[in-house]
Amino acid sequence: MARSCTWSVFRVKDEQRAELSATDFRSDTMSLYRNSAWFLKGMTEFTRSAFLTASKLFVEKDLEVAMAGRSFMITGANSGIGRATAMAIAKRGGTIHMVCRNKDKAEEARADIVKETGNKEVYVHILDMSETKKVGEFAEGFKRKYKALNVLINNAGSIMSQRDVNAEGLEKSFATNVLGIYILTKSLIPLLEKSADPRVITVSSGGMLVQKLRTGNLQSDRGRYDGTMVYAQHKRQQVVMTEQLAKTHTNIHFSVMHPGWVDTPAVANAMPDFHRSMKDSLRTPEQGADTAVWLAVSEAAITNPSGRFYQDRKMVSTHLPLAWTHSSPLEEQELMSLIEDLAKTFQPH
Ligand SMILES: NC(=O)c1ccc[n+]([C@@H]2O[C@H](COP(=O)([O-])OP(=O)(O)OC[C@H]3O[C@@H](n4cnc5c(N)ncnc54)[C@H](OP(=O)(O)O)[C@@H]3O)[C@@H](O)[C@H]2O)c1
Repeated sequence: MARSCTWSVFRVKDEQRAELSATDFRSDTMSLYRNSAWFLKGMTEFTRSAFLTASKLFVEKDLEVAMAGRSFMITGANSGIGRATAMAIAKRGGTIHMVCRNKDKAEEARADIVKETGNKEVYVHILDMSETKKVGEFAEGFKRKYKALNVLINNAGSIMSQRDVNAEGLEKSFATNVLGIYILTKSLIPLLEKSADPRVITVSSGGMLVQKLRTGNLQSDRGRYDGTMVYAQHKRQQVVMTEQLAKTHTNIHFSVMHPGWVDTPAVANAMPDFHRSMKDSLRTPEQGADTAVWLAVSEAAITNPSGRFYQDRKMVSTHLPLAWTHSSPLEEQELMSLIEDLAKTFQPH
């Protein structure tokens, strides 16, 4: 009896091992497939030359619009895509609220925008999006001070090389890329809803195509911390969050977009090898910002349904073919409930 028990334990272990290695093999093969399919897609669609090809179909007059009297909040507006977006909208006369974490960098970018566009309606607000409580406090203060906000552009994003937590004990890139965006957006919804033609645009990434939505490890505190994959998961969560918010807030036009591969400090710092090898093929920040600007200002953008994912001014699929990254409505609801619960915990009093 004892012997047979011992054998059965070994048999179970062997079966588990076989099961585990089969799972690992399937998951490694799937990752390899997703990463290869994504890279091939990137080489044909995300580069500067792909932008130049796509832009041949752009309707020029879509961006020939006057934005005076409309206000735009842009997070991470001091650098890269966010700065180029702020510049393009300021050129069209829009009031710009730059939400940045570094005062010196923000003031320098503001001075450049004012100088280049002649538009003085450019305001700096200092906020670190990874500081969860402060995000809610900032949004409440903004609502008290301003009567309108027409467009919110959630652009700030970060990739961390190692796991770090904020004062609230939350993993910092999750706090910045997911929870901060959720709190800022949800808190500003009443103000957006009072304003004409309200829109919310989130700058996600095509990198999310390699990730299936996961809700079981939001704080990335289990397993090895791979900053790039954690970031890609957050970008997937942004897509799901946008789809879900669009369903519940039908007065606002939501969209989420991929800017392509763009030469910015984020890429140079977080992915130095990729940056070095792709440097000549990367888009300029202006090219990377084009779709965000189009979504923020054009009439054409709001003729499309709310909640969609864009690349080069076109609605595109949120999944690679055969990549098994689709999630169920239950999983999507679960993400929203978990984020909503976290947001409630850190609500300003
Ligand atoms: N570049 C690409 O190829 C690419 C591709 C796909 C998606 N994206 C997305 O595009 C967006 C803009 O990135 P980028 O490429 O333009 O890089 P970037 O030039 O480095 O700009 C990132 C901006 O986000 C700000 N930021 C980061 N963490 C923040 C925080 N906790 N609080 C407030 N602001 C914060 C940065 O502030 P500091 O200047 O103070 O650091 C900076 O202003 C990001 O969401 C990124 O994920 C970029």
